[in-house]
Amino acid sequence: MTDCNILDLLSVQDFNEVKNAIQDHVNFKLASSVPIDNYHLHVDARQHKYLSSKRERILPEAVTSSLLGLSSFQQLFSSYPNHIPATVVFDSTSRENRPELYFRLVRPHCLSDVGPAHCDYWFNDAMNTGYSRGSTIKFWFPIVVEPNMNGLYFYPNAPAEIPYNIIVHNGFRKPVLSIDKSAIGEPLLVCPNHCQAVVFSDEVLHSGAPNQGSRTRVSLELCLVKA
Ligand SMILES: [Fe+2]
Repeated sequence: MTDCNILDLLSVQDFNEVKNAIQDHVNFKLASSVPIDNYHLHVDARQHKYLSSKRERILPEAVTSSLLGLSSFQQLFSSYPNHIPATVVFDSTSRENRPELYFRLVRPHCLSDVGPAHCDYWFNDAMNTGYSRGSTIKFWFPIVVEPNMNGLYFYPNAPAEIPYNIIVHNGFRKPVLSIDKSAIGEPLLVCPNHCQAVVFSDEVLHSGAPNQGSRTRVSLELCLVKA
C-alpha cells in the first residue's frame, strides 16, 4: 500500500504552540537557547545521539497533555471517534500508559538522521505493542520543513506485500526490509505545508527523506489506534 493523505489539521495558533513546545523541550534538554531550525549548528555528535533516542524524543506527560488539549487536536480526535492515541512505547520492554507524542530532528545532509524504509506495523510487531496490523494511523506534522528539500518518502511502486525481518541492533529489536532496496522502486517526496499533516496507515511503506535544505528539519508524530 502506498496511500497517504495531506490534511489541514492545525490552526496557526496551535501550530505555534506545538513548535514552541518542541523548541522549549529541546532547549531544556540541551541546557541552551537556540532557534530549533538552527539546532544543527549548536550540537555535537554526542548531544545529537542523546536526543536521537526515542526515549528523549517523546514529549513529557504534561507537555503532551497540554498540546493534545488544543482545539486542533480535539477536533482531530472527534474526526476519528473509533480511535484513541497510542500510548508511550520506549522500546520492546519499556512503556508508559499515557498518550505518546514525539518529535524528530533531521540535520541538513546527515543521512544517518533518517531511518530506512519501513511500515509502522513492523515496529508494532518488533516493539510488542499489541496493536494488530492495519489498526493504527500515523499523523506526521511538519514543524520546520523546506519545500522540495525534505519531508517523507513514500514508495508508489513498492509491491503490495513487503517482507521484513526483525534484528537486534544495539540491544533493541528493529524491523528491516528483507528484500533488495531496488525492489521497492524510487521514492516520492511528500512535504506538506505548516498546519497540515501527512496521514497514513501502518501498512504504508515510507521513510524519512534526507534533508537537502539548510535548516534542521523538525517533525512531530502522533499515532491513533482503533479503540
Ligand atoms: Fe514510520
